[in-house]
Formats: sequence, C-alpha cells, structure tokens
Amino acid sequence: MKLKFNDIKCVGVYDNKIDLFEGQFEVEEGISYNSYLILDEKTALIDTVDEAFFDEWLKNVEDSLNGKHLDYLIVEHMEPDHSANIKRLMDLKKDLIIVSSQKAFQMLSDLYEVSYNDRMIQINENDSLNLGKHNLKFISASMVHWPEVMMIYDEYTKAFFSADAFGKFGPLSLDDWACEARRYYFGIVGKYGLPVMNLFKKIANLEISAIYPLHGPVLEDNLSYYLSLYQTWASYTPETKGVFIAYTSVYGNTKRAALYLCEELKKKNIKVALADLARTDIHEDVEDAFRYSHIILATTTYNGDIFPIMKNFINELIDRSYQNRTIGLIGNGLWANQANKVMKSMFEKSKNITFLNQEVNIKGGFKEINKEEVKKLIEEINLN
Ligand code: FEO
Repeated sequence: MKLKFNDIKCVGVYDNKIDLFEGQFEVEEGISYNSYLILDEKTALIDTVDEAFFDEWLKNVEDSLNGKHLDYLIVEHMEPDHSANIKRLMDLKKDLIIVSSQKAFQMLSDLYEVSYNDRMIQINENDSLNLGKHNLKFISASMVHWPEVMMIYDEYTKAFFSADAFGKFGPLSLDDWACEARRYYFGIVGKYGLPVMNLFKKIANLEISAIYPLHGPVLEDNLSYYLSLYQTWASYTPETKGVFIAYTSVYGNTKRAALYLCEELKKKNIKVALADLARTDIHEDVEDAFRYSHIILATTTYNGDIFPIMKNFINELIDRSYQNRTIGLIGNGLWANQANKVMKSMFEKSKNITFLNQEVNIKGGFKEINKEEVKKLIEEINLN
C-alpha cells in the first residue's frame, strides 16, 4: 500500500491462507497485518505482523529502509497477530530500542518470556517520541480492545495510527468498507463501546489527515465518514432503521413464521434482513443485530429452554453489551412453550431494551391465529 506521505511506508503483509481469524472469525478473503515505517532523522517501525510472515515482512522493512538504520520499534498492541515477531526482530537488530506501555512490556514477558531492560523506552499517555520532523504523541486506548493499547498521533503529518480500531477483515480495498469493518468492529471490539467513546473524546480536538489501522485499508480521504460511523457503532446507536429477523427452526414451522413476517414487512416497505442462525455466519448475524434498530427473534422451546443455537446467539449479543434496540419475540412449543419467556429473561440486564408487547406464540404448526399475531406485532413497529 502506497501512502500519501512519502516518509511513511506501509510494510505490512496480507494473509490469504488463514481460515479463522483470532480462532473464530471467518475471513474467506483473508486479512492484512499492517505495520508502518516512519523515515526521518530517526526511523521508527510501528508493530510487527503475524508469526508466519516474518521473512516477507522483514524484506518489506529492509526494502523501505533502503540502507537506513532502524532506531525504534513501537508497539501499539500486543495481541500476537502484531507482536509475534518482536523477539526475532530484537534478536536480529541488537541496538533496536523498543517503545511501548508498561502493560505491553508485562505482556511481552508473559507471552514470550523476554524483557529488554537495557534497550526499552516505557511510554505513558501524552508522552512524545521525536524522530526529527515527526513528533509522535502517545494516546492510551485501554480496552480498545486490550488494556495495553497505545495509539499514536504524528504531529507533523497529522496521521493517526489507530491500532485495531478502524480495522477491517478482507481486501485492502475501500469498496463497501463498512460491511467488513462493521463485522470486525462488533465481533472484536463491540463490547468496548465505552472505551471507544473515551478514545473519541481524546482525539476530538486533533486535526487528523489519515487513519492508519493494523488491519485493512488505510483511510486517507473522507475521514468524517469513517469517524462518524465508528461513533455510531461505539455508542450502540442503530445504524439502519429496519428489522433483522433471526430465527432457528427444527421442522420448518418457526421458519414459516419468520418468512411470513419477512414478507409482511416488505409489503410495508420496511427494510428487513433475515437469517437462519443455524446456516449463517454467527458474526454476520451479530453484525446485523447491531446494525438494525429492531430485531425479531424466533425460536423453539428445547429441553425446557430454547434452541441452543439461538441461546448462543443471544449470549453473543449480551456479551457485546447489546442495548438501545427494540426486540420482538416469536416462540414455538408443542407443549410447555417456554421460548419467549426464556429469550426475554436473557436480556434482563441489558440496557435500554424495549420489547414489542405483541408476542407470537406458536403451538407446533404456524396457523392463521399466528398470522394475526404477526400482523399485530408489525403494527407496533415504529421506525420514526
Ligand atoms: Fe489485530 Fe487485537 O489484534
């Protein structure tokens, strides 16, 4: 990736062999591990890359250094997709100075059993590292999404190095950026909306010319779009007025209810998305749950509880501080129908959740009476 500043180079790599990112996220089109090099009187490398890419990454670094000495390795974030090559690089370059937060140095010891007491600079929030023209200010971004994270603002170029924030799965293209950035955000950072909003307070008065994240494309234009979308996500504000229908179905009756609801919503020109939770990527479904203002959950009673895939999905939402949404319930049970009661109780501790009064209670087959319940449920949906 060529950047708009000649003296900042992206020296990252692209991983198109990975099957699951962080052990759970599907990335069919791969993911990049970005790393940046600032060339000035002193040179600074920002973060390393995944363990498997040491040779390719080092070549990128050396090519961009073009014979210059490497002075600093700055560590924004210690998750191993960025920290795994610190030891090899420090072993290779005996006078390289590593710069990071106290918590990062502790993690370095806990993860890799290394410490660099004689060649480290421990930085705190608001500390600076001067490279010549580039003066790097450190911004603590604790819990976005790990505790040690230290982001960087370059006062010379106004570039903001944002660690995992503004990261994205998939190609280094800006086409449809929000789609995979949203799945990344809610999948990985979603629980930490408050720390992200705190970060926004810290950077509110900074003039930012570019955002350089650790995954995905660099953001160098139209920054207000990305910043504004991120604030929507971090504040748990619904992005799209509409309904996400998430269902599970064993023999097709609950599915019939979900499809009927979907068609009735479409007739009213309400924006709607539909997912069979057993057959879709759960992180796409989590993304849609956070994207839409309304969610309708449809499932069956199962072992005196609810269908396990729905239970897991609701837990994924709760774990990410799901809030500020309206929920409708469709429950099925041939005997002792518990589904709606169980689903509702799972959100007891969630903030600012409104339940539609009209529930749909299916006893086995989806019948005319249930169609009437669906219609009444739709009447309650207010998208204004
Ligand atoms: Fe890309 Fe949190 O590591």
